Amino acid sequence: MSRKIIVFDTTLRDGEQVPGAKLNLPQKIEIAQQLKRLNVDIIEAGFPASSAGDFQAVQEIARSVGDTVSITALARAVKSDIDAVYESIKLAQNPLIHIVLGTSNIHVEKKFNRTKSDVLQMGIDAVRYAKTLLPHVQYSTEDASRSDFEYLWSTIEGVVKAGATMINVPDTVGYAVPEEFGYLIGRINERLKNLNDQVILSVHCHNDLGMATANTLQAIKNGAEKVEVTINGLGERAGNASLEEVVMGIKVRDNYYNCFTDINTQELLRTSRLVSHLTGLDVQVNKAITGENAFAHSSGIHQDGLLKDKQVYEIMSPEEVGVDSMELILTARSGRHAFKNSVEKMGFDTSDTEDFEELFAKFLSLADAKKEVYDHDVFYLVSNHRKLD
Ligand code: KIV
Ligand code: ZN
Repeated sequence: MSRKIIVFDTTLRDGEQVPGAKLNLPQKIEIAQQLKRLNVDIIEAGFPASSAGDFQAVQEIARSVGDTVSITALARAVKSDIDAVYESIKLAQNPLIHIVLGTSNIHVEKKFNRTKSDVLQMGIDAVRYAKTLLPHVQYSTEDASRSDFEYLWSTIEGVVKAGATMINVPDTVGYAVPEEFGYLIGRINERLKNLNDQVILSVHCHNDLGMATANTLQAIKNGAEKVEVTINGLGERAGNASLEEVVMGIKVRDNYYNCFTDINTQELLRTSRLVSHLTGLDVQVNKAITGENAFAHSSGIHQDGLLKDKQVYEIMSPEEVGVDSMELILTARSGRHAFKNSVEKMGFDTSDTEDFEELFAKFLSLADAKKEVYDHDVFYLVSNHRKLD
C-alpha cells in the first residue's frame, strides 16, 4: 500500500540561516502563507530563543497560518529555549516542539565537553519537560550520520521512552552517501518499530556533497516517514534537500518509492520564485524542477522528438509543477492587450479600467527597466499594486 510521506518545511528556519537571506516579518508571513497553499504538513517557522524578532515571527506565523498546518520551532535541549518555542507556537492548532542535541563523539566531546551519559540525560530531561507543555515533541539527533550507532540508538530509545513522538535523523554536515544513509535509516526503523510503532521516523539531509535529495529518497525507501526540506534547497552552507526535488522524485517515480505526499505540486514554481524574490537569492538556471531551463529544450533533435510526442523527452509535464508552457515574455512593446491577457491568466480581475491603467503604467516602467517581463514579474507587480491600494 502506498505510504504518505509527511513534508516538513524548514525554509524559514534552516533556510533563513543562509547568509544574506534575512527576511522581515511580512516577508516571512508571505512565505508561510504560500507554504500553506503548497500544502506542506509542518512549517518550521524559526528559532525563537535566538532573538526577539524571531520569536515574534514564529508567533505571528502560528497565529496567521497555524489553523490547518502544523507549526513548529527549534529549541536546544534547555528549558529556556523550550519555553520560548512553547510560548511562540501555542496558538497554532497543532503545535510541535522541536528539540535538537548532538549525538556524535565530536559534538559530545568538542561542543559540550561532557560525557555521553550526561548528554543523553540532558536530552531525556528536555523531552520530559517539553511533554509537560505539549503532546507533540520531535527530537533531532544532530550529526546522526557521524555518530556511533549504539549510542545513537540509546539516545533514540531514551527520548522515545521519555515521550518523543517524532525522531529526526539529520545528516547535519552532508557527509552521508545514499546506500549508507539508507542502511542507517533501515536499522533505526527496524528497532523503532519494535520499541514504539507510533513514533514517526524523519530525516534531514544537507547537501555538502550534492547528495541531499538522493539521501532523503534513499531514507524513504528504507522506512522514513517524514522529510525535512526547504524551498530551492536553501539552508546552511550548501543547503538542505530541496522540497521540489524530493516531492517530484516521489511523484514521478511513485512506481519505485510507492509513496505520495499531499503537496499541491502546481504551486511549486510560484513558491520557488516567491522565496527567491524575497530572499534575493537566485535559483540556478539548470536547477531541477524550478530552474529557468528545467523544461526548456534547445537542441533540434529534442525539439523534433517533443513535437512528435512530449513523452519522448519529458518525464513530467511543466504544468504539473506550475510552469505555464505557453508563457509569453512581455516587453514594453507588447501592448495593453497582451498585458491584460497575462494579468487575467493569473486569476486577477481587470474590470476596473482606472486600476488597470495604473497597472499598465507600472508595467511599462518595469518593462523599460527589465526589457523582458516574465509571468512571475507580472504576478508580483499586480500583487504589490493591489496590496498598496
Ligand atoms: O542540520 C541539522 O542537524 C539541523 C537540526 C536542527 C535538525 O538543522
Ligand atoms: Zn540542518
